[in-house]
Amino acid sequence: MKITVAPSILAGNLTDLRSSVIQIRESGARWLHIDVMDGYFVPNLAFGPQVVRALTDCELDLFFDVHLMLDHPEYFLKQFAEAGADLISIHVESLCPIAEALQAIRSFGKQVGLAINPETAIEKIFPHLDFVDLVLVMGVHPGFCGQKFIKSSLEKIEMIRKKNPTVKIEIDGGIHLDNARLCIQRGADVLVAGTSFFGASDPRKFVQQIEHE
Ligand code: DX5
Ligand code: ZN
Repeated sequence: MKITVAPSILAGNLTDLRSSVIQIRESGARWLHIDVMDGYFVPNLAFGPQVVRALTDCELDLFFDVHLMLDHPEYFLKQFAEAGADLISIHVESLCPIAEALQAIRSFGKQVGLAINPETAIEKIFPHLDFVDLVLVMGVHPGFCGQKFIKSSLEKIEMIRKKNPTVKIEIDGGIHLDNARLCIQRGADVLVAGTSFFGASDPRKFVQQIEHE
């Protein structure tokens, strides 16, 4: 199984996002994870489509993994698609018809992701499992970087992997070198890293340790 680290720009240098994107590129990571928050779905605000556009305009050949933590993602899918997202994930807890929103993402020619919060039953994902490219399992309550990993997320990873051997499983929140291996063993293949990536003394080594060991 090919493992991918997706550094989360939310934990980067917010006064100089370009330098953080360059840092991600130079680390050898191929994905960039960008969090979008509406202040309702989560108690925080972050990054609109214009920021995604500005970062994709840097042309650093990264895969833009856009994570929408929005009550109503359906109003913004087209804008994020046009801004250069490669994969768009919506939450299964969002207040919109989920299957329709997933289909809309596909119709814009983008990879389709479905995210799930720690307190939500995994069964909510199952009806959509064969349609999506990726399931994003939250390892923390969404909204902020730097939180402690919630261990029950490991069971979610395992249950999804048992049901579907090929879907990408992304674990997001609280990932460090010491728990990355556990997530991979249970079936995760994309690991978001915010605090741990930007806090690493050698980000290149950090990415290699997770992706290749
Ligand atoms: C949290 C976000 C995460 C966050 C991860 O709501 O979805 O992507 O940036 O940050 P760390 O790795 O510090 O937990
Ligand atoms: Zn995220």
